[in-house]
Amino acid sequence: MEDRFGRRIDYLRISLTDRCNLRCLYCMPSEGIITKPREDILRIEEILKVADIALQLGINKFRLTGGEPLLRKGVIPFIKALALKPGVQDIAVTTNGTLLKKLGKQLFDAGVRRLNVSLDTLDDEKYRQITRGGKLKQVWDGLQEALRLGFRPIKINTVALRGFNDSEVVDFARLTLEYPLHIRFIELMPIGTSWMMADNSFISCEEIRDMIEQKLGELQPFPKVKGSGPAEYYSLSGALGSIGFIHAMSNHFCASCNRLRLTADGKLRPCLHDQHEVNLLDALRSGAGDEDLKQLFLKAVALKPANHHLATGAPETGRGMCQIGG
Ligand code: 5AD
Ligand code: SF4
Repeated sequence: MEDRFGRRIDYLRISLTDRCNLRCLYCMPSEGIITKPREDILRIEEILKVADIALQLGINKFRLTGGEPLLRKGVIPFIKALALKPGVQDIAVTTNGTLLKKLGKQLFDAGVRRLNVSLDTLDDEKYRQITRGGKLKQVWDGLQEALRLGFRPIKINTVALRGFNDSEVVDFARLTLEYPLHIRFIELMPIGTSWMMADNSFISCEEIRDMIEQKLGELQPFPKVKGSGPAEYYSLSGALGSIGFIHAMSNHFCASCNRLRLTADGKLRPCLHDQHEVNLLDALRSGAGDEDLKQLFLKAVALKPANHHLATGAPETGRGMCQIGG
């Protein structure tokens, strides 16, 4: 499918659940979010149906997100069923890593090779703080297991937060010398519960890059990492991995946006930062046929904006990250 700006849409991010076993400060309020009642969440068969329609329209790359996708009951059989569908080229997973030790092998055997793991600090106590109670060791063990199993590429998503992990930027960068990890620093976006943090905690990618270059030397442009989306990659000399920057507040990468998002409650979202949604759940449950569903996909594609306007007064997205799927 092509949108009205000539962008080819071939990638669907599927949020499998709005629940999470962590509650990161910038993502969720302390009491947790009001998760949707179970009947408002797409059933596995319904998600597979949506995937069929997507495939018919030329979408062949999928990413599973959340909340925490590995919490979804039936996630492994779901991935196996998706992987078997003709035309599926790629299935990647974005996870907080807490369940990787337990589910890594099954994920690998189901056909997943590409993992994004969210990790904002390498310090136990800080990890407990930012995730409101999470255990860093779980994620670290999960990462080691994922490396051992052979997932590639493994990308680490690190949201840069002033006064929190700016002192660790160089440590994160050093990980790429020792492991084939791709560390991606993400600029904090004023959505979800990060509205109130955004002004004080924001650090730009430029600043992070300077910090790394001052300590570890010049960064060299790194060839595109598979499925790289909005990140720009560099590497340190002799590194096994790379260092990426996601200029989340800039909209430069919108011009090459290739994606739609499916929320756990069955809404197709044309853009992370746009309120528009197309209701697939209602359509699926009121007996819509393939043609009707295709039309809804086309409607979502037609609604894709040219770019977002985060930097010039953020739009209200109506949902936090965990309710959209990152
Ligand atoms: N700004 C930037 N990144 C965010 N994430 C969640 N909320 C925000 C925010 N407000 C990140 C998570 C995860 C990825 C999917 O999005 O840390 O790694
Ligand atoms: Fe969970 Fe990810 Fe949100 Fe943290 S950022 S609370 S890990 S969904």
